Amino acid sequence: MPVVLNARGLSKRFGAVTAAHEVSAAIDKDSVVGLIGTNGAGKTTFINMITGYLKPDAGAITYEGRDITPLAPRQITRLGICRSFQIPQLYSSLSVHENMMIGLGIVLANAGHGGFLSRGDAPVPGYGEPAAQVAEHILARFGLAEYRDRNTQVLPGGVRKLLDIALTMVAKPRVLLLDEPTSGVSAQEKFGIMQMVLDAVRAEGATVLFVEHDMEVVSRFAQRVLAFYDGRVIADATPEVALADPEVRRHVVGRLRAAHA
Ligand SMILES: Nc1ncnc2c1ncn2[C@@H]1O[C@H](COP(=O)(O)OP(=O)(O)OP(=O)(O)O)[C@@H](O)[C@H]1O
Ligand SMILES: [Mg+2]
Repeated sequence: MPVVLNARGLSKRFGAVTAAHEVSAAIDKDSVVGLIGTNGAGKTTFINMITGYLKPDAGAITYEGRDITPLAPRQITRLGICRSFQIPQLYSSLSVHENMMIGLGIVLANAGHGGFLSRGDAPVPGYGEPAAQVAEHILARFGLAEYRDRNTQVLPGGVRKLLDIALTMVAKPRVLLLDEPTSGVSAQEKFGIMQMVLDAVRAEGATVLFVEHDMEVVSRFAQRVLAFYDGRVIADATPEVALADPEVRRHVVGRLRAAHA
């Protein structure tokens, strides 16, 4: 598999805190990678550096061979690297469909179709269809059609998480970084959400990195695991190998178990 994203020697300090220390990872195209680690281990910092929200003090990130380290988040998104946040970013007083149309309106505006939401017939980049059709297509893929006209603040937590991820699809991501896509939902729901998300993303063809604290979910869905501890990557392997690693057991798995007990 060709490497789609290559992080080399990324370091980031916040005062006395080392949030990233020489983090390197080569991510294979179309792979599904689980990011694990206890609170403060550096997972979100890694995602923030890849997506341009934080600039590393040292190191570089290449995407399909191109150096994206100096680019702004918006430019990185336009190249196809998209993300969700730890807390869903939804317009809570609007419906599911309206949230989707706003997302698509932003994509169209960024593509130079101006007049925010005015050019309803313009093809959405990557999809080649007007926004209204793309919205229905994405909602159906994520099993959200039945919630289409519901206000997002009354949605169950799991559905809110799904919508938040579905919204990242408007930009037709080639690489999708999901920061705790299943946090705050029941253990039962986690598997359904991850299955739905990965099926939808794979149907569009994209690489996925996701932060997850439940090791059963990681084992089931990740093809590869990056384990973070104290700003460092302490394991980079298949879930079987990474989760059996003594350092990972000591610094990640054991501590997560203690924290959730
Ligand atoms: N903007 C910031 N300013 C100061 N310190 C920060 C900032 N962002 C992160 N940190 C610190 O960097 C370290 C790594 O944080 P990060 O958010 O990457 O952890 P995480 O692995 O995502 O943890 P969690 O599981 O709690 O989300 C922590 O000690 C955190 O307090
Ligand atoms: Mg985090």
